[in-house]
Amino acid sequence: MSRLDSMLRRFTAQRDGLNWAAKLVESHAGDGLDMGLGNGRTYDHMRETMPDRRIWVMDRVLQCHPSCVPPELDFLQGEAEEGLARLVEMDAKIVLAHYDFGYGVKEEDVAEAARLSPLIAKIMVRGGMIVSGQPLAGFDQVEGPDHIAPDRYYFYRT
Ligand SMILES: C[S@@+](CC[C@H](N)C(=O)[O-])C[C@H]1O[C@@H](n2cnc3c(N)ncnc32)[C@H](O)[C@@H]1O
Repeated sequence: MSRLDSMLRRFTAQRDGLNWAAKLVESHAGDGLDMGLGNGRTYDHMRETMPDRRIWVMDRVLQCHPSCVPPELDFLQGEAEEGLARLVEMDAKIVLAHYDFGYGVKEEDVAEAARLSPLIAKIMVRGGMIVSGQPLAGFDQVEGPDHIAPDRYYFYRT
């Protein structure tokens, strides 16, 4: 598969997976959380899809497209552990989380996702959804939309 095809597959999985999960949690209260602001694409999509929810977003750096700069109060700048610990302290209630941290080194990315999973679990509401680019540990995996390959994106009900 070309890198272009692979990127398109990832973007499609993100958009369709987030849309699908947002519908599933429609009747549940809670905030959104995007782990990995990056360019701001998925954050922008989440705030557009869930205009009535607060969308928290994390990254160690603020380097997104100017149109996607989050409100200062919703942006947790720093390392993932610190950001998640701050949400735990604030007693945040997250109903839809998107996990998009990673360096591109599969083994390290999988290990980090497993290490962060217990912190993520502390802020998720019952009946919430996690849409993730990496496998997480300790959550119930569910089947996502049919056209998304199970090893491309991961879906968890909390
Ligand atoms: C793949 S990019 C996110 C792309 C973004 N979701 C988008 O749609 O544009 C991953 C981002 O996560 C951040 N990141 C990776 N590991 C992190 C960590 N442990 N703590 C904080 N930020 C991290 C990187 O700085 C990078 O901006």
